[in-house]
Amino acid sequence: MKGLGKIVFILLGVFLFATPACQKDIEVPLDILPDFNPIPYQLPSRKVGSPQYNIRPDNPLTEQGVMLGRMLFYDPILSSDSTQSCASCHNQVNAFTDNGRALSVGVTGAIGKRNSMALFNLMWHPSFFWDGRSPNIRHQVLRPIEDPTEMNSSIPEAMKKLQNSSMYRIQFYSAFGTTKITDELYAKAMEQFLFTLISFDSESDKFDRGEPTDFSAAALRGKQIFFREPSDGGADCFHCHGTSHFADFTMSNNGLDATTTDPGFGEVSGKPFDLGKFKVVSLRNVAQSAPYMHDGRFKTLEEVIDFYSTGVHANSPNIDPKMDEIPEGLNLTAEQKADLIEFLKSLSDQNFLTNPKFSNPFN
Ligand code: HEC
Ligand code: HEC
Repeated sequence: MKGLGKIVFILLGVFLFATPACQKDIEVPLDILPDFNPIPYQLPSRKVGSPQYNIRPDNPLTEQGVMLGRMLFYDPILSSDSTQSCASCHNQVNAFTDNGRALSVGVTGAIGKRNSMALFNLMWHPSFFWDGRSPNIRHQVLRPIEDPTEMNSSIPEAMKKLQNSSMYRIQFYSAFGTTKITDELYAKAMEQFLFTLISFDSESDKFDRGEPTDFSAAALRGKQIFFREPSDGGADCFHCHGTSHFADFTMSNNGLDATTTDPGFGEVSGKPFDLGKFKVVSLRNVAQSAPYMHDGRFKTLEEVIDFYSTGVHANSPNIDPKMDEIPEGLNLTAEQKADLIEFLKSLSDQNFLTNPKFSNPFN
Protein backbone atom coordinates (compact mmCIF):
# COMPACT_ATOMS: atom_id res chain seq x y z
CA MET A 1 0.00 0.00 0.00
CA LYS A 2 1.27 3.49 -0.83
CA GLY A 3 2.40 5.67 2.09
CA LEU A 4 -0.43 8.13 2.15
CA GLY A 5 -2.94 5.36 1.61
CA LYS A 6 -1.57 3.76 4.72
CA ILE A 7 -2.17 6.80 6.90
CA VAL A 8 -5.67 7.20 5.49
CA PHE A 9 -6.30 3.52 6.05
CA ILE A 10 -5.19 3.73 9.68
CA LEU A 11 -7.20 6.88 10.33
CA LEU A 12 -10.24 5.44 8.60
CA GLY A 13 -9.89 2.34 10.74
CA VAL A 14 -9.87 4.43 13.90
CA PHE A 15 -12.85 6.41 12.70
CA LEU A 16 -14.94 3.38 11.76
CA PHE A 17 -14.20 1.49 14.93
CA ALA A 18 -14.38 4.47 17.25
CA THR A 19 -17.71 5.89 16.15
CA PRO A 20 -20.20 3.21 15.23
CA ALA A 21 -23.27 5.16 14.12
CA CYS A 22 -25.82 3.47 16.37
CA GLN A 23 -23.74 3.34 19.55
CA LYS A 24 -22.67 6.95 19.92
CA ASP A 25 -22.58 7.00 23.70
CA ILE A 26 -20.77 3.74 24.30
CA GLU A 27 -17.23 4.41 25.51
CA VAL A 28 -14.58 3.12 23.18
CA PRO A 29 -10.85 3.02 23.73
CA LEU A 30 -9.08 6.05 22.29
CA ASP A 31 -6.71 4.18 20.00
CA ILE A 32 -7.57 1.16 17.95
CA LEU A 33 -4.11 -0.22 17.41
CA PRO A 34 -3.22 -2.00 14.20
CA ASP A 35 -1.23 -5.24 14.28
CA PHE A 36 2.42 -4.68 15.02
CA ASN A 37 3.79 -6.09 11.82
CA PRO A 38 6.75 -4.09 10.52
CA ILE A 39 7.45 -4.65 6.84
CA PRO A 40 11.11 -4.37 5.76
CA TYR A 41 11.66 -1.29 3.58
CA GLN A 42 13.33 -2.08 0.28
CA LEU A 43 15.97 0.46 -0.67
CA PRO A 44 16.52 0.67 -4.43
CA SER A 45 19.18 -1.76 -5.63
CA ARG A 46 22.60 -0.25 -5.18
CA LYS A 47 23.97 1.60 -8.22
CA VAL A 48 27.31 0.56 -9.67
CA GLY A 49 30.03 2.83 -8.29
CA SER A 50 28.08 3.86 -5.19
CA PRO A 51 29.05 2.71 -1.68
CA GLN A 52 27.54 -0.25 0.21
CA TYR A 53 24.46 0.62 2.20
CA ASN A 54 25.27 1.45 5.79
CA ILE A 55 22.08 0.86 7.80
CA ARG A 56 22.54 0.78 11.58
CA PRO A 57 21.93 -2.76 12.93
CA ASP A 58 19.79 -1.42 15.80
CA ASN A 59 17.45 0.43 13.45
CA PRO A 60 16.51 -1.57 10.35
CA LEU A 61 14.35 0.37 7.90
CA THR A 62 10.69 -0.63 7.85
CA GLU A 63 7.80 0.71 5.77
CA GLN A 64 6.12 1.91 8.94
CA GLY A 65 9.25 3.49 10.44
CA VAL A 66 10.15 5.32 7.22
CA MET A 67 6.57 6.58 6.89
CA LEU A 68 6.62 7.81 10.49
CA GLY A 69 9.91 9.63 9.89
CA ARG A 70 8.49 11.20 6.76
CA MET A 71 5.40 12.40 8.64
CA LEU A 72 7.59 13.88 11.39
CA PHE A 73 9.83 15.61 8.82
CA TYR A 74 6.86 17.34 7.19
CA ASP A 75 4.82 18.07 10.34
CA PRO A 76 5.09 21.54 11.95
CA ILE A 77 4.01 19.95 15.25
CA LEU A 78 7.66 19.78 16.36
CA SER A 79 8.08 23.57 16.49
CA SER A 80 7.03 25.72 19.46
CA ASP A 81 4.06 27.33 17.69
CA SER A 82 3.40 24.44 15.28
CA THR A 83 4.17 26.57 12.22
CA GLN A 84 7.54 25.21 11.08
CA SER A 85 8.54 21.72 9.97
CA CYS A 86 11.93 20.40 8.96
CA ALA A 87 10.73 20.75 5.37
CA SER A 88 10.19 24.50 5.88
CA CYS A 89 13.99 24.85 5.64
CA HIS A 90 14.69 21.62 3.73
CA ASN A 91 12.67 21.66 0.51
CA GLN A 92 12.91 18.67 -1.84
CA VAL A 93 13.11 20.69 -5.10
CA ASN A 94 16.10 22.56 -3.63
CA ALA A 95 17.87 19.28 -2.77
CA PHE A 96 16.32 19.73 0.69
CA THR A 97 17.86 23.17 1.27
CA ASP A 98 16.09 26.37 2.21
CA ASN A 99 14.24 27.84 -0.79
CA GLY A 100 17.18 29.99 -1.91
CA ARG A 101 17.69 31.67 1.48
CA ALA A 102 21.26 32.50 2.53
CA LEU A 103 20.46 32.16 6.25
CA SER A 104 17.50 30.29 7.69
CA VAL A 105 14.76 32.04 9.66
CA GLY A 106 13.28 30.35 12.73
CA VAL A 107 9.75 30.40 14.17
CA THR A 108 10.40 33.57 16.19
CA GLY A 109 11.71 35.38 13.13
CA ALA A 110 15.27 35.03 14.45
CA ILE A 111 17.85 34.63 11.70
CA GLY A 112 20.35 31.79 12.11
CA LYS A 113 24.01 32.14 11.26
CA ARG A 114 24.32 29.36 8.68
CA ASN A 115 22.98 28.26 5.32
CA SER A 116 20.62 25.26 5.34
CA MET A 117 22.31 22.06 4.20
CA ALA A 118 21.30 19.65 1.45
CA LEU A 119 19.97 16.30 2.70
CA PHE A 120 20.85 13.09 0.86
CA ASN A 121 23.21 10.11 1.20
CA LEU A 122 23.29 10.86 4.93
CA MET A 123 24.01 7.27 5.98
CA TRP A 124 27.61 7.82 4.87
CA HIS A 125 28.34 11.14 6.63
CA PRO A 126 30.84 10.93 9.54
CA SER A 127 29.44 14.09 11.19
CA PHE A 128 26.69 16.66 10.75
CA PHE A 129 26.32 20.44 10.52
CA TRP A 130 28.75 22.83 8.83
CA ASP A 131 30.96 22.70 11.92
CA GLY A 132 30.60 18.95 12.47
CA ARG A 133 29.17 19.43 15.95
CA SER A 134 26.80 16.49 15.68
CA PRO A 135 28.34 12.99 15.62
CA ASN A 136 25.40 11.05 14.20
CA ILE A 137 21.99 11.57 12.66
CA ARG A 138 20.04 10.50 15.76
CA HIS A 139 21.81 13.22 17.72
CA GLN A 140 21.38 15.73 14.87
CA VAL A 141 17.60 15.39 14.39
CA LEU A 142 16.92 16.50 17.96
CA ARG A 143 18.87 19.75 17.62
CA PRO A 144 16.53 21.76 15.33
CA ILE A 145 13.66 21.25 17.82
CA GLU A 146 15.50 23.09 20.59
CA ASP A 147 17.49 25.58 18.50
CA PRO A 148 16.15 29.08 19.34
CA THR A 149 16.84 30.19 15.73
CA GLU A 150 14.94 27.21 14.35
CA MET A 151 11.95 25.47 15.96
CA ASN A 152 12.55 27.10 19.37
CA SER A 153 10.83 24.36 21.38
CA SER A 154 12.19 21.76 23.78
CA ILE A 155 12.51 18.03 23.33
CA PRO A 156 10.12 17.18 26.24
CA GLU A 157 7.57 19.67 24.87
CA ALA A 158 7.76 18.27 21.33
CA MET A 159 7.51 14.67 22.58
CA LYS A 160 4.49 15.63 24.71
CA LYS A 161 2.73 17.04 21.65
CA LEU A 162 3.41 13.84 19.73
CA GLN A 163 2.24 11.74 22.70
CA ASN A 164 -1.03 13.68 22.77
CA SER A 165 -1.71 12.89 19.12
CA SER A 166 -3.71 9.74 18.44
CA MET A 167 -2.32 9.66 14.89
CA TYR A 168 1.25 9.54 16.22
CA ARG A 169 0.51 7.04 19.00
CA ILE A 170 -0.85 4.71 16.36
CA GLN A 171 1.99 5.35 13.91
CA PHE A 172 4.67 4.84 16.59
CA TYR A 173 2.91 1.63 17.54
CA SER A 174 2.98 0.36 13.95
CA ALA A 175 6.65 1.28 13.63
CA PHE A 176 8.03 0.25 17.01
CA GLY A 177 5.33 -1.73 18.85
CA THR A 178 4.77 0.86 21.58
CA THR A 179 2.58 3.92 22.04
CA LYS A 180 5.05 5.42 24.50
CA ILE A 181 6.76 8.11 22.43
CA THR A 182 10.36 8.87 23.38
CA ASP A 183 13.02 11.08 21.87
CA GLU A 184 14.99 7.93 21.09
CA LEU A 185 12.17 6.45 18.98
CA TYR A 186 11.51 9.82 17.37
CA ALA A 187 15.18 9.97 16.34
CA LYS A 188 15.14 6.41 15.03
CA ALA A 189 12.09 7.12 12.87
CA MET A 190 13.67 10.30 11.51
CA GLU A 191 16.90 8.41 10.80
CA GLN A 192 14.93 5.80 8.85
CA PHE A 193 13.30 8.39 6.60
CA LEU A 194 16.48 10.45 6.12
CA PHE A 195 18.45 7.32 5.18
CA THR A 196 16.04 6.65 2.29
CA LEU A 197 17.08 9.98 0.69
CA ILE A 198 19.62 8.49 -1.69
CA SER A 199 20.99 10.21 -4.77
CA PHE A 200 23.29 8.45 -7.23
CA ASP A 201 21.36 8.97 -10.45
CA SER A 202 22.71 12.16 -11.98
CA GLU A 203 23.56 12.57 -15.66
CA SER A 204 27.22 12.26 -14.63
CA ASP A 205 26.53 8.92 -12.90
CA LYS A 206 24.62 7.66 -15.93
CA PHE A 207 27.52 8.69 -18.14
CA ASP A 208 29.96 6.80 -15.88
CA ARG A 209 27.72 3.73 -15.94
CA GLY A 210 27.38 3.85 -19.73
CA GLU A 211 23.62 4.49 -19.58
CA PRO A 212 21.71 6.84 -21.91
CA THR A 213 22.26 10.40 -20.70
CA ASP A 214 22.17 14.10 -21.60
CA PHE A 215 25.76 14.47 -20.33
CA SER A 216 27.25 17.03 -22.73
CA ALA A 217 30.66 17.50 -24.30
CA ALA A 218 31.07 20.65 -22.19
CA ALA A 219 30.27 18.67 -19.03
CA LEU A 220 32.90 16.11 -20.02
CA ARG A 221 35.50 18.86 -20.43
CA GLY A 222 34.40 20.25 -17.07
CA LYS A 223 34.76 16.84 -15.49
CA GLN A 224 38.35 16.63 -16.69
CA ILE A 225 39.10 20.07 -15.24
CA PHE A 226 37.47 19.02 -11.96
CA PHE A 227 39.51 15.83 -11.64
CA ARG A 228 42.91 17.12 -12.76
CA GLU A 229 45.82 18.75 -10.94
CA PRO A 230 46.55 22.40 -11.72
CA SER A 231 49.87 21.29 -13.24
CA ASP A 232 47.80 19.28 -15.72
CA GLY A 233 45.40 22.08 -16.67
CA GLY A 234 42.93 21.10 -13.95
CA ALA A 235 41.25 22.94 -11.08
CA ASP A 236 42.07 20.42 -8.36
CA CYS A 237 38.52 20.14 -7.03
CA PHE A 238 38.74 16.37 -6.58
CA HIS A 239 41.23 16.54 -3.71
CA CYS A 240 38.39 17.58 -1.41
CA HIS A 241 35.29 16.89 -3.54
CA GLY A 242 36.39 13.47 -4.82
CA THR A 243 34.85 9.99 -4.25
CA SER A 244 31.36 9.02 -5.32
CA HIS A 245 30.03 11.63 -2.86
CA PHE A 246 31.91 14.52 -4.49
CA ALA A 247 33.05 15.31 -0.94
CA ASP A 248 35.34 13.73 1.61
CA PHE A 249 33.21 15.24 4.45
CA THR A 250 36.35 16.37 6.33
CA MET A 251 36.64 19.74 8.07
CA SER A 252 38.60 22.15 5.93
CA ASN A 253 39.21 25.84 5.27
CA ASN A 254 39.01 26.58 1.55
CA GLY A 255 40.20 30.17 1.99
CA LEU A 256 36.92 32.11 1.99
CA ASP A 257 38.08 34.78 4.45
CA ALA A 258 41.31 36.66 5.19
CA THR A 259 40.45 36.57 8.89
CA THR A 260 38.28 34.06 10.73
CA THR A 261 34.72 35.34 11.07
CA ASP A 262 32.85 32.17 12.10
CA PRO A 263 34.94 29.78 14.25
CA GLY A 264 33.36 26.72 12.58
CA PHE A 265 34.92 23.41 13.61
CA GLY A 266 37.34 25.26 15.93
CA GLU A 267 34.47 25.95 18.32
CA VAL A 268 33.66 22.23 18.39
CA SER A 269 37.18 20.83 18.81
CA GLY A 270 38.45 23.70 20.96
CA LYS A 271 41.67 23.72 18.93
CA PRO A 272 42.95 26.99 17.48
CA PHE A 273 44.13 25.23 14.31
CA ASP A 274 40.53 24.21 13.54
CA LEU A 275 39.18 27.77 13.54
CA GLY A 276 37.50 28.65 10.24
CA LYS A 277 37.18 25.03 9.10
CA PHE A 278 33.87 23.77 7.72
CA LYS A 279 32.50 20.52 6.37
CA VAL A 280 33.48 19.70 2.79
CA VAL A 281 29.97 19.18 1.44
CA SER A 282 28.78 17.06 -1.45
CA LEU A 283 28.42 18.73 -4.83
CA ARG A 284 25.63 16.41 -5.92
CA ASN A 285 22.47 18.39 -6.78
CA VAL A 286 24.49 21.56 -6.23
CA ALA A 287 22.73 23.41 -9.08
CA GLN A 288 19.52 23.16 -6.99
CA SER A 289 20.95 24.24 -3.64
CA ALA A 290 21.95 27.91 -4.09
CA PRO A 291 23.15 29.99 -2.36
CA TYR A 292 26.49 28.49 -1.39
CA MET A 293 28.96 28.05 1.48
CA HIS A 294 28.24 27.90 5.23
CA ASP A 295 26.86 31.45 5.22
CA GLY A 296 25.25 31.40 1.78
CA ARG A 297 27.56 34.17 0.57
CA PHE A 298 27.64 33.14 -3.10
CA LYS A 299 24.36 33.36 -5.00
CA THR A 300 25.41 31.41 -8.09
CA LEU A 301 27.79 28.71 -9.22
CA GLU A 302 29.49 31.40 -11.34
CA GLU A 303 30.34 33.28 -8.15
CA VAL A 304 31.68 30.07 -6.57
CA ILE A 305 33.92 29.35 -9.54
CA ASP A 306 35.15 32.95 -9.65
CA PHE A 307 36.07 32.55 -5.98
CA TYR A 308 38.10 29.37 -6.61
CA SER A 309 39.68 30.96 -9.67
CA THR A 310 40.83 34.31 -8.29
CA GLY A 311 39.20 34.96 -4.89
CA VAL A 312 40.91 32.50 -2.53
CA HIS A 313 42.58 34.14 0.48
CA ALA A 314 45.85 32.24 0.43
CA ASN A 315 46.80 33.67 3.84
CA SER A 316 43.52 32.67 5.49
CA PRO A 317 44.33 31.23 8.93
CA ASN A 318 44.41 27.40 8.86
CA ILE A 319 43.86 27.29 5.10
CA ASP A 320 43.86 23.72 3.83
CA PRO A 321 47.30 22.82 2.43
CA LYS A 322 45.44 21.39 -0.57
CA MET A 323 44.44 24.96 -1.49
CA ASP A 324 48.08 26.02 -1.63
CA GLU A 325 49.14 24.37 -4.84
CA ILE A 326 48.84 27.56 -6.80
CA PRO A 327 48.91 30.46 -4.38
CA GLU A 328 48.23 32.98 -7.11
CA GLY A 329 44.90 31.29 -7.90
CA LEU A 330 43.68 29.00 -10.65
CA ASN A 331 43.05 31.83 -13.12
CA LEU A 332 40.62 29.77 -15.15
CA THR A 333 39.59 30.98 -18.59
CA ALA A 334 35.96 31.86 -19.31
CA GLU A 335 35.60 28.61 -21.22
CA GLN A 336 37.07 26.51 -18.41
CA LYS A 337 34.68 28.16 -15.96
CA ALA A 338 31.69 27.50 -18.20
CA ASP A 339 32.73 23.86 -18.64
CA LEU A 340 33.16 23.36 -14.89
CA ILE A 341 29.69 24.76 -14.31
CA GLU A 342 28.24 22.43 -16.94
CA PHE A 343 29.84 19.54 -15.08
CA LEU A 344 28.46 20.72 -11.71
CA LYS A 345 25.01 20.95 -13.29
CA SER A 346 25.35 17.36 -14.56
CA LEU A 347 25.48 16.25 -10.89
CA SER A 348 21.76 16.92 -10.46
CA ASP A 349 19.59 13.87 -10.00
CA GLN A 350 16.05 14.52 -11.25
CA ASN A 351 14.77 11.19 -9.90
CA PHE A 352 15.86 12.22 -6.43
CA LEU A 353 14.54 15.78 -6.69
CA THR A 354 11.09 14.65 -7.82
CA ASN A 355 10.75 11.23 -6.13
CA PRO A 356 7.19 11.15 -4.69
CA LYS A 357 8.40 8.88 -1.83
CA PHE A 358 10.28 11.85 -0.38
CA SER A 359 7.45 14.37 -0.68
CA ASN A 360 4.96 15.67 1.89
CA PRO A 361 2.80 12.68 2.96
CA PHE A 362 0.01 14.96 4.19
CA ASN A 363 -0.63 16.52 0.75
C1 HEC B 1 14.94 27.18 10.50
C2 HEC B 1 15.39 26.32 9.43
C3 HEC B 1 15.67 24.87 9.73
C4 HEC B 1 14.80 23.94 10.27
C5 HEC B 1 13.40 24.16 10.77
C6 HEC B 1 15.50 22.69 10.24
N1 HEC B 1 16.75 22.83 9.71
FE1 HEC B 1 18.10 21.38 9.37
N2 HEC B 1 19.51 22.76 8.96
C7 HEC B 1 19.28 24.12 8.89
C8 HEC B 1 20.54 24.82 8.87
C9 HEC B 1 20.72 26.33 8.79
C10 HEC B 1 21.55 23.83 8.93
C11 HEC B 1 23.05 24.08 9.07
C12 HEC B 1 23.25 24.57 10.51
C13 HEC B 1 24.68 24.62 10.99
O1 HEC B 1 25.53 23.99 10.38
O2 HEC B 1 24.95 25.27 11.99
C14 HEC B 1 20.87 22.53 8.97
C15 HEC B 1 21.50 21.30 8.98
C16 HEC B 1 20.84 20.08 8.99
C17 HEC B 1 21.47 18.78 8.85
C18 HEC B 1 22.96 18.50 8.67
C19 HEC B 1 23.29 17.99 7.27
C20 HEC B 1 24.75 17.74 7.06
O3 HEC B 1 25.14 17.38 5.94
O4 HEC B 1 25.57 17.87 7.99
C21 HEC B 1 20.47 17.84 8.94
C22 HEC B 1 20.62 16.32 8.85
C23 HEC B 1 19.23 18.56 9.14
N3 HEC B 1 19.49 19.91 9.15
C24 HEC B 1 18.00 17.96 9.34
C25 HEC B 1 16.90 18.64 9.87
C26 HEC B 1 15.75 18.00 10.46
C27 HEC B 1 15.54 16.50 10.59
C28 HEC B 1 14.90 19.00 10.86
C29 HEC B 1 13.57 18.87 11.59
C30 HEC B 1 13.62 18.18 12.87
C31 HEC B 1 15.53 20.25 10.50
N4 HEC B 1 16.74 19.99 9.93
C32 HEC B 1 14.95 21.49 10.72
C33 HEC B 1 18.04 24.72 8.87
C34 HEC B 1 16.89 24.16 9.40
C1 HEC C 1 40.85 22.17 0.14
C2 HEC C 1 39.59 21.52 -0.09
C3 HEC C 1 38.71 22.03 -1.22
C4 HEC C 1 39.02 22.16 -2.55
C5 HEC C 1 40.33 21.85 -3.23
C6 HEC C 1 37.80 22.60 -3.19
N1 HEC C 1 36.81 22.76 -2.27
FE1 HEC C 1 34.91 23.31 -2.64
N2 HEC C 1 34.52 23.37 -0.64
C7 HEC C 1 35.42 23.05 0.35
C8 HEC C 1 34.87 23.41 1.63
C9 HEC C 1 35.56 23.23 2.98
C10 HEC C 1 33.59 23.95 1.37
C11 HEC C 1 32.64 24.54 2.42
C12 HEC C 1 33.27 25.87 2.82
C13 HEC C 1 32.44 26.74 3.71
O1 HEC C 1 31.23 26.83 3.54
O2 HEC C 1 33.04 27.40 4.58
C14 HEC C 1 33.42 23.91 -0.07
C15 HEC C 1 32.27 24.34 -0.71
C16 HEC C 1 32.08 24.27 -2.09
C17 HEC C 1 30.85 24.61 -2.75
C18 HEC C 1 29.58 25.07 -2.08
C19 HEC C 1 28.69 23.91 -1.75
C20 HEC C 1 27.44 24.30 -1.02
O3 HEC C 1 26.51 23.47 -0.98
O4 HEC C 1 27.36 25.40 -0.45
C21 HEC C 1 31.04 24.40 -4.10
C22 HEC C 1 30.02 24.60 -5.20
C23 HEC C 1 32.41 23.95 -4.26
N3 HEC C 1 33.01 23.88 -3.02
C24 HEC C 1 32.99 23.64 -5.47
C25 HEC C 1 34.35 23.40 -5.63
C26 HEC C 1 35.01 23.36 -6.90
C27 HEC C 1 34.32 23.51 -8.25
C28 HEC C 1 36.34 23.16 -6.65
C29 HEC C 1 37.47 23.16 -7.65
C30 HEC C 1 37.63 24.41 -8.35
C31 HEC C 1 36.48 23.07 -5.21
N4 HEC C 1 35.26 23.22 -4.62
C32 HEC C 1 37.68 22.83 -4.55
C33 HEC C 1 36.68 22.49 0.17
C34 HEC C 1 37.33 22.45 -1.05
